Amino acid sequence: MAAAPSHPRRGRLLLIVVVALLLRAMAVAAAAAFRARDVLPLLPRRVAWQLMGATAHSAVDLLPSFVAAVAPGGAPAAWRGACFADNQAVLSLIPGGGAGSGAAGRNGTGGGISGNTSSSSSLGGAVIHLKTASPESWTCMDLYVFATPYRIAWDYYMRSNENHTFEIKAWEEAAELEYVKQHGIAVFLMPSGMLGMLLSLVDVIPLFSNTGWGQDANLAFLKKHMGTSFQKRSQPWSANIRREDVHSGDFLALSKIRGRWGGFQTLEKWVTGAFAGHTAVFLKDENGTLWVAESGYENKKGDEIISMTPWDEWWGMALKDDSNPQIALLPLHPDVRARFNESAAWNFARSMYGKPYGYHNMIFSWIDTMSENYPPPLDSNLVMAIMSMWTRLQPHYASNMWNEALNKRLGTEKLDLHGIITETERRGLSFNQLLTIPERDDWEYSDGKSTTCVAFILSMYKAAGVFAPFTESIQVTEFTIRDAYMLKIFEDNQTRLPGWCNAAADMLPFCQILGEYKMDLPEYNTIEPYANMNENCPSAPPTYNRPAGC
Ligand SMILES: *[C@@H]1O[C@H](CO)[C@@H](O)[C@H](O)[C@H]1NC(C)=O
Ligand SMILES: *[C@@H]1O[C@H](CO)[C@@H](O)[C@H](O)[C@H]1NC(C)=O
Ligand SMILES: *[C@@H]1O[C@H](CO)[C@@H](O)[C@H](O)[C@H]1NC(C)=O
Ligand SMILES: *[C@@H]1O[C@H](CO)[C@@H](O)[C@H](O)[C@H]1NC(C)=O
Ligand SMILES: *[C@@H]1O[C@H](CO)[C@@H](O)[C@H](O)[C@H]1NC(C)=O
Ligand SMILES: *[C@@H]1O[C@H](CO)[C@@H](O)[C@H](O)[C@H]1NC(C)=O
Repeated sequence: MAAAPSHPRRGRLLLIVVVALLLRAMAVAAAAAFRARDVLPLLPRRVAWQLMGATAHSAVDLLPSFVAAVAPGGAPAAWRGACFADNQAVLSLIPGGGAGSGAAGRNGTGGGISGNTSSSSSLGGAVIHLKTASPESWTCMDLYVFATPYRIAWDYYMRSNENHTFEIKAWEEAAELEYVKQHGIAVFLMPSGMLGMLLSLVDVIPLFSNTGWGQDANLAFLKKHMGTSFQKRSQPWSANIRREDVHSGDFLALSKIRGRWGGFQTLEKWVTGAFAGHTAVFLKDENGTLWVAESGYENKKGDEIISMTPWDEWWGMALKDDSNPQIALLPLHPDVRARFNESAAWNFARSMYGKPYGYHNMIFSWIDTMSENYPPPLDSNLVMAIMSMWTRLQPHYASNMWNEALNKRLGTEKLDLHGIITETERRGLSFNQLLTIPERDDWEYSDGKSTTCVAFILSMYKAAGVFAPFTESIQVTEFTIRDAYMLKIFEDNQTRLPGWCNAAADMLPFCQILGEYKMDLPEYNTIEPYANMNENCPSAPPTYNRPAGC
């Protein structure tokens, strides 16, 4: 039934990531305006979709198709499936207090993830009653994804004239119930080859649990798939930093291992090969006050923006963070610090202050080489599928998110996703080739320049002269977090690291300032900057081999 891919495990895991990404994407997009950092880095560079494609005439044929929105009350929704010609569905709301028997449908087959697994049932839930009839053959099946901006779940149906139910145990929050009352639950008919992928998602769910069990799941995943070792550090696990020893431009690498951020960072790390999931940078003002500048700070409204936070406040939040962050401080090398133009760095930071997090270019920082293992268009199909589903659910965010970036690559304006795909094919390009056109640092989007957490820091470095003499020939939007900490610009003499950072005891080449486990940044501080750096680098688990000069 499921695909028989040539790299079964890898293919399967990549698919898991993509779907997890979609789930989170939708949860996040509606819940708090938008937190794309959770999401986009997870889209893999290479995704196989083995079953499909062989028979498709055009890439557009591979998209999941929206078949119905099932809303409470009113006439039943009806549609034609790939297997069953006559399908009907009605949605009944279950009042609060009475939780159902499980959101996952049948035993171990259907399933889903929502943004908050601990939500209470006081808002109630819902049941979709489905009828499937008039199958094309006795063995065929239809595979569906049920989605709201807050969740995604799936199930499949093989028998005719049956009354199926699909249960949503509890709404995420009042806004989800409101959304469903107005727009219904979107039903997408999926190409049936995706079944294996959906089934395997069950493995990922514990990564998002904000418990000791969830943390163990994250550590186990990283150990197994990235070969990370989690060795306990010597005490103290939290450093008392001395401000005099910290300077403008010093880099902060964060790794969260628990709860929803932990789960996403885990998948992000695995896809990009980075052993850290977020980054920030120190700036000192003329009065010696220490600030942390970062892209991806969550403000009170829940938007992710570029901000500058006084160190004490930032550190206080880190200590309270229930995602159990491990934090490393990577001091600049004294020679680099000597040419670091502090006032240019401040000017840059001030010019970006308050701008939104850079979701436009996120995806493109790692999709930059053509797939080696899978012929186009297979490897980008899933990316396309996700874009298409998201476009349906969150048209506004979707167009912000990638349509603008894809239009820039084509030199077109305002084409929607279908228009983009059609135009790409008309030019004889595959969708994958379109995705691999490099981002340019000087592209400006409708909401300004786009910088991810690491692109923000590296752009600041660029402004401050860190990359001289290659300043003009380095496109920092091509860099992942891993690419950033591999740059040979950091302190390389362990004896010069400040005493409070305890590096000698743990034999680390940098300062770790928080966390119970030793952070491991393979190939830290090894690659001198060069022109056109990282514009053609693959990143394939589990070794993440990086060809020299890519
Ligand atoms: C689900 O599992 C339970 C216990 O394992 C079993 O009693 C029940 O019949 C199963 N239901 C279906 C629909 O397979
Ligand atoms: C999950 O939902 C519960 C109850 O609605 C809420 O108290 C909690 O803060 C939510 N957690 C997250 C991580 O959103
Ligand atoms: C499905 O439900 C309808 C009523 O809603 C009932 O008449 C029919 O017998 C049910 N079919 C099966 C197979 O249980
Ligand atoms: C530095 O201190 C002076 C005097 O207290 C103050 O006027 C100035 O605004 C301070 N600069 C910054 C960047 O906070
Ligand atoms: C540092 O940057 C500022 C502002 O961009 C500029 O005026 C100054 O000349 C630069 N200093 C050096 C030494 O390059
Ligand atoms: C490292 O720094 C110490 C103290 O500044 C110095 O004595 C030593 O020579 C340095 N080692 C290297 C390899 O540069």
